[in-house]
Amino acid sequence: MLFIFNFLFSPLPTPALICLLTFGAAIFLWLINRPQPVLPVIDLDNQSVGIEGGAHKCSYQNDNELMRYYFPDAKTVYEIFQRGLAVSDNGPCLGYRKPNQPYKWLSYKQVSDRAEYLGSCLLHKGYKPAPDQFVGIFAQNRPEWVISELACYTYSMVAVPLYDTLGAEAIIYIVNKANIPTVICDTPEKASVLVGNVEKGLIPGLKMIILMDPFEDELKKRGEQCGVELLSLFDAENLGKENFRKPVPPNPEDLSIICFTSGTTGDPKGAMITHENIASNAAAFLRCLEHIFQPTPEDVTISYLPLAHMFERVVQAVLYSCGARVGFFQGDIRLLPDDMKTLRPTVFPTVPRLLNRIYDKVQNEAKTPLKKFLLNLAVSSKFNEVKNGIIRRDSIWDKLIFSKIQDNLGGRVRVLITGAAPISSSVLTFLRAAMGCPVFEAYGQTECTAGCTITSPGDWTSGHVGVPVACNYVKLEDVPDMNYFSANNEGEICIKGTNVFQGYLKDPEKTQETLDKEGWLHTGDIGRWLPNGTLKIIDRKKNIFKLAQGEYIAPEKIENIYIRSRPVLQIFVHGDSLRSFLVGVVVPDPDALPSFAAKLGVKGTLEELCQNQILKEAILEDLHKNGKEGGLKSFEQVKNIFVHPEPFSIENGLLTPTLKAKRVELSKYFRTQIDSLYESIKE
Ligand SMILES: *[C@@H]1O[C@H](CO)[C@@H](O)[C@H](O)[C@H]1NC(C)=O
Ligand SMILES: *[C@@H]1O[C@H](CO)[C@@H](O)[C@H](O)[C@H]1NC(C)=O
Repeated sequence: MLFIFNFLFSPLPTPALICLLTFGAAIFLWLINRPQPVLPVIDLDNQSVGIEGGAHKCSYQNDNELMRYYFPDAKTVYEIFQRGLAVSDNGPCLGYRKPNQPYKWLSYKQVSDRAEYLGSCLLHKGYKPAPDQFVGIFAQNRPEWVISELACYTYSMVAVPLYDTLGAEAIIYIVNKANIPTVICDTPEKASVLVGNVEKGLIPGLKMIILMDPFEDELKKRGEQCGVELLSLFDAENLGKENFRKPVPPNPEDLSIICFTSGTTGDPKGAMITHENIASNAAAFLRCLEHIFQPTPEDVTISYLPLAHMFERVVQAVLYSCGARVGFFQGDIRLLPDDMKTLRPTVFPTVPRLLNRIYDKVQNEAKTPLKKFLLNLAVSSKFNEVKNGIIRRDSIWDKLIFSKIQDNLGGRVRVLITGAAPISSSVLTFLRAAMGCPVFEAYGQTECTAGCTITSPGDWTSGHVGVPVACNYVKLEDVPDMNYFSANNEGEICIKGTNVFQGYLKDPEKTQETLDKEGWLHTGDIGRWLPNGTLKIIDRKKNIFKLAQGEYIAPEKIENIYIRSRPVLQIFVHGDSLRSFLVGVVVPDPDALPSFAAKLGVKGTLEELCQNQILKEAILEDLHKNGKEGGLKSFEQVKNIFVHPEPFSIENGLLTPTLKAKRVELSKYFRTQIDSLYESIKE
């Protein structure tokens, strides 16, 4: 551009020559700067292949050997970390910050040393270096979390994360079930609750609490009186340094972590995950990404998704194995944008909830028809490039429209992975256009460590969850009750591989329900193989019920369709088996609702809007429209809704820690509203 510009205003007398030179230079510049398409490494029409017995594997997996590790010197999480130390040449490892300050970094060696000291302290206090020794970790994401975890791994012990959102009773249950003698925790408040439970005789086995934050003598005394020793992390590390023990690294098949997940009902279940489970799942992600992205020590991810979840654990393992860095958010989700801008992450693991917000914000900001037109044009132009394998953020559209969105995430994201819940096609397509980086969708669950399928690189279509990762096979099993048969390429999704867990801690019955004799993990999700070999999630096995007239209802399927409605943030679909129709509770999206209301000439606070009849009717109408488009039968459409201003959350007990609806709780919570919805309509 600059050359041509100069030429137009050139005072020189030899325009022909300059013209030629300029033209040549411009071509040259274009040639060297021309965006290089990233071509798919596999045949996109044939992304997974069948193996003996009807299961599928990804087509980039050459033999039938499932991956166990990516780097031969990184077969356990301990080795993964040590590899990071070596390849980064003791580079920065864990970053943290105080408000409005830059990030500070602990180096790999510092983290490794502190883990050895803390682990030595645990041994000094009576732990044995063996995979039947459990240590609780009860903290928000922060460097000490990773240090505590690594302390366990350095001496073949097992980490058991605890987290608030499980609920007070669940924590008591876990400490007892796993028989945890020591909990490493972050705040004196949490320690005080634990001590309180010991005082009440609820967790008699707890003998020691190691505290990251400063605490009062008072608490220490309370602990002493009921037989619990309180130690600061600082003192614990010093004690370990004085009583240093050589590392006793684990084997790949040893347990590494027990990840408790709360189901929609009943007690939490402790998924037993080995080192190999984590190493193989991390390896499979690296394999999938290898042609477009391999982390280097310069890469950095932001840690804000709960560390107690395996998705975040595996993302971190991927980064450590390559010597990359992990920066922690300050612990307040409202400050996440500021942390992102400061850290400037290159790897962004995320969940649909957050991406939907970004999407809605951008859509809402385009208020005038011209702006809307430009936004749509920008998305379609960029997405056209993406379809041709060109992924960049230096196009005119980026400069005009998308740079702000990119900058809000720090401006350097090289790869974005979303998981944990389904994401809509429009949001995915928007992100692929706007972010200027590859966007992957992964599907999985704790029981297969984190991911069992992921988008193939180069496939930028949506409406499916990609193909099996290289550490597992996927097969579909008949569910005759629901009319799904593998012969039709439909059925319950079952997983077998090196990432499949070892069962639930001390719970053979639940283990048997989930893991069959041949080692297949039954996910409870219903999938369909698309003709090009990708997997689509179409239903859920459980949570189906019959309406009074005998029709089967799968409420989650309906909710997944309704959630596409613009004004809707969350929806709960309920059906009484004694009634012949469904009703729903809608939580409106606070960002989308005002503009939706304005179009109807309705104004007011969120609470007022929620009570407005005109608005309610309009939302119901929009749901029906989306339902129809999504192929819902008329008995699958809700007949009436209640609009509720406060989101379902983990805190108010209406979502599980993995953000799934707690259906039983929801029905109880909204009992009166549901009853009056039913009253309002004659059958
Ligand atoms: C798909 O790929 C597999 C091997 O990767 C091959 O055996 C099979 O014939 C292919 N199918 C089609 C329809 O191209
Ligand atoms: C795979 O098939 C599905 C369904 O037919 C389609 O929506 C999707 O675009 C296809 N993907 C590719 C990369 O062709």
